[in-house]
Amino acid sequence: MVNYINKNKKRFLDELFELLAIPSVSADASFKKDVLKAAQKTAKFLNNAGAHSVEVCETPGYPVVYGDYIVSPELPTVLVYGHYDVQPADPIELWSSDPFKPEIRKTPIHLNGAIFARGACDDKGQFFMHLKAFETMVATNNVTCNIKFMIEGEEEVGSENLAWFVKKNTKRLSCDVILISDTGMVGPGIPSLTTGLRGLSYVEVEVTGPNRDLHSGLYGGAVANPINILSNMIARLHDDKKKITIPNFYDKVLTLSSEEREELAQAPFSLEEYKDALDLADVYGEEEFSTPERNSIRPSLDVNGIWGGYTGEGAKTVIASKAYAKISMRLVPNQDPTEITELFTKYFKSIAPTSVKIKVTPHHGGQPYVCPTDHRGYAAAVKALGDSFGKKAVPVRSGGSIPIVALFEKELKAKSILMGFGLDSDAIHSPNEHFGLDNYYKGIETIPLFYKYFSKK
Ligand code: BES
Ligand code: MN
Ligand code: MN
Repeated sequence: MVNYINKNKKRFLDELFELLAIPSVSADASFKKDVLKAAQKTAKFLNNAGAHSVEVCETPGYPVVYGDYIVSPELPTVLVYGHYDVQPADPIELWSSDPFKPEIRKTPIHLNGAIFARGACDDKGQFFMHLKAFETMVATNNVTCNIKFMIEGEEEVGSENLAWFVKKNTKRLSCDVILISDTGMVGPGIPSLTTGLRGLSYVEVEVTGPNRDLHSGLYGGAVANPINILSNMIARLHDDKKKITIPNFYDKVLTLSSEEREELAQAPFSLEEYKDALDLADVYGEEEFSTPERNSIRPSLDVNGIWGGYTGEGAKTVIASKAYAKISMRLVPNQDPTEITELFTKYFKSIAPTSVKIKVTPHHGGQPYVCPTDHRGYAAAVKALGDSFGKKAVPVRSGGSIPIVALFEKELKAKSILMGFGLDSDAIHSPNEHFGLDNYYKGIETIPLFYKYFSKK
C-alpha cells in the first residue's frame, strides 16, 4: 500500500486542491452553488476511489454524500464521517494568499510544506485522507471490512439536517464504529486520539432601550443606554474567580477523579510555548485548573460578537436604541444544552434593569461527547498510530465541538473514534488556515492500518 501511496502522491494532492478551490461556505447563502458543487465533487471522488452506491442525498438543507463498500455481512463495519463545508474566509485581508486558491508554503512547524486554503485542515484535507486511504485499499486489494462514508455539508452551521438524515437512515448507516478525522494532535509528530469533545449552547441577545436612537447630549444620563447595559450584563456573567455566575450552571458538571486528571496531564504541554504562540503575557481562567483543563474538562462562556451604535469613521454622539451580542457556552459531560440555554435566558433576564427590554434567541447547540479508552476502536487506532508514528498515541480531551457525534451515539448506538491530524497552529477558522503535507500523507498511511486492526477479531 505504501508503494501505491508514494506513486500517487502528486495526484492525491492535486485532487484535494480541486476540492479546496470550491468556496463551500455553509454559513453564507451567497455560496449556495459552491456548497452544492463541493457535494458533487466529493461524490465524484468517492466514486472514483471505488465506493459503491454513491449518492448525493437531498436533505432540507445541504446534501449528505453517501457511499459504501460492503465486503461481507460477517465483517465489522466502519462508518467514516467528515464535512465538505467550510467556515467563511473573512477577514480576507489577513490572508497571505487567496483562501480558495490553495498553495504550498513552508512554516516553522511544517518544514516540508503545508497546504494553505480555507478547509485545508477543517475538514476537506482531513476527510480527503479517508478517500485516498480507501482508494489505496481498493486498488491494492486490501479492504478487510465493510466501509461506509457519510460526508455532510452543514457541520459548521450545526448539522441540523444531518441529524434529520441520520434518524431517517439508521439502517443504511448501521455500523460497529464511526471513524472521524476532524480534530487535532497535541503537538507536531505526536499521534493523538481525542477522547472528549465539548458541547455547545449558543444564543443571541438583544437589549432594547428607547424606541429610537437618541442624541446622547439631550438624553445622556436620563435613559438607559442599551450598549452600557449590555456591557454590564455581560461583565456580570463571570465573577472575579472567573466562574460563570448563572445559577445552577455547574450543577451537572462531571468532576474528574484525580487519576483521570493525572492521565490527561500526561499529554505534553508547555505553558511558555502556548503563551508565545499567542503573544500573551499571561493566560486566564479558573484558578484550580490547568490551561489544558480549562479548555477541555471545564465549561466556558464567551462573547463571540457584540455590536450596536455608531462604529463608522469619526464620532457620532448617539445613544443607540438597541445593542446585540452573540454568546456561546462550551459544555462538558453531563451538561445539557437545552437546559443550559434555559438557565442562561432566565438569569440574563433577571439581571436586566427595568429600563430595558431583553430578547434571547437560541441558536444551535450540541451535547458533549466522551470516548472510552477501552473501546476496541480506540485500541485499533492506538495500534495504527503506533505503527505509522512509532510512538504511542496520547489521549486528549478537546475543547472544540462536533455536535453530531453525540447524536450518532444515540441514534446509531456506535462510538466515534476521533483520529485527527491537525495542529492548533494550523489555524482552523482563522486566516491562513493550513494543513501539513506530512500530516496529510501520514493520515493516508495510518487509516488503512486502523481498518486492518479493527477487522481482526
Ligand atoms: N472540526 C471542528 C471541531 C474541532 C476542531 C474539534 C479541533 C476538536 C479539535 C468543527 O468543524 C467545528 O469547528 N465545530 C464547531 C461547532 C459547530 C456547531 C459550529 C466548533 O467547535 O465551534
Ligand atoms: Mn471540522
Ligand atoms: Mn470547523
